[in-house]
Amino acid sequence: MKKSILITGGAGFIGSHVVRLFVNKFPDYRIINLDCLTYAGNLENLKDLEDKDNYVFSKVDINEEKLLEKVFNDYQITDVIHLAAESHVDRSISDPLAFVKTNVMGTVNLLNTARNFWKDLNNHLFYHVSTDEVYGSLDNGGYFTETTPYDPQSPYSASKASSDHFVRAYANTYGMKTVISNCSNNYGPNQFPEKLIPLCIHNIKERKPLPVYGKGENVRDWLYVEDHARAIDEVFHKGLPGQTYNIGGFNEWKNIAIVELLCQIMDRKLGRAEGESAKLITFVKDRAGHDLRYAIDAQKINKELGWEPSLTFEVGIEKTVDWYLENESWLKGVTSGDYLHYYEAHYS
Ligand code: NAD
Ligand code: TYD
Repeated sequence: MKKSILITGGAGFIGSHVVRLFVNKFPDYRIINLDCLTYAGNLENLKDLEDKDNYVFSKVDINEEKLLEKVFNDYQITDVIHLAAESHVDRSISDPLAFVKTNVMGTVNLLNTARNFWKDLNNHLFYHVSTDEVYGSLDNGGYFTETTPYDPQSPYSASKASSDHFVRAYANTYGMKTVISNCSNNYGPNQFPEKLIPLCIHNIKERKPLPVYGKGENVRDWLYVEDHARAIDEVFHKGLPGQTYNIGGFNEWKNIAIVELLCQIMDRKLGRAEGESAKLITFVKDRAGHDLRYAIDAQKINKELGWEPSLTFEVGIEKTVDWYLENESWLKGVTSGDYLHYYEAHYS
């Protein structure tokens, strides 16, 4: 095997697309998917890879030092692509410590394990996958560039900002070869239906209210998840050590516009009368500290690594809706049990 790459959080939304891309595109790499399978992790997402010779799954929490060391030893890990995290802003508001434990302490534990295991730090890469939310909120226009000062506003973004700083500190202090990418909001198959797009698809299907926070004026910049996975491939192979790359599709939408678009698409696909699903739109209490706008300037990754999104939003959102409609059992599986608990507590 040319490389033995540890991908953390591979059973989650973005991780599952990254693992699939790497396993299929690079048969001479061994891909170790390390994930402790929280509510957001689901091996169903990777069913098609179970029989692949270059794919291994390991159920481990990134905070479990001894088990991590064993995985590094057993598989002679050469590189890390780190995605494991608590990822939902609303959950970070109700339970910030869970985000500190996984996103901050888990990341430092992983950095330590890699540093201790790798004899020559020059030969190995630690790639940390992060979010544009570390830059804060663009209330007065403009775009996030790689030099925008960090200004995280939610417990989630504060925990991711902290983990980014630790990665840079390991590069600076110990000479570890690291790279970081900060991506905008992703959408697509396998996303847990607590985030805006899959939640609305699920609720429209079930004729449940579509909770729009505040006035729905907040803006997010959306990227199809497979395009993010392709960007991660480029950054992993061509990114310069110590660098940061912003990833985004120049695709800004107000929340209310996305929800209305989903209603239109679903009316058409479900054979409902035009305007029927939009009646489900319900304006609810705003999220505490709700960031107004995110928008990525993705010129650096485009110019330096040649990456650009392959799908328009119109195509990506149709594909996404189709996937959720065609994968009813996946949706049923993840929306039973605990999900209802959380959902009911959150919206009642
Ligand atoms: P997700 O919540 O869908 O998946 C996270 C995965 O990490 C799950 O499989 C979960 O089981 C695993 N995990 C959580 N805690 C763990 C722990 N302690 N040990 C081992 N595994 C653990 O998240 P996602 O949306 O796929 O995001 C993946 C990464 O990308 C995160 O680091 C996130 O901050 C970043 N990111 C996400 C977005 C987005 O729009 N979703 C955008 C930019 C960056
Ligand atoms: P989300 O998908 O949670 O991603 P993030 O908070 O990381 O951007 O939310 C996207 C936007 O949609 C955000 O502005 C909050 C808003 N939102 C709602 O209006 N209603 C909802 O039920 C959810 C989950 C989000």
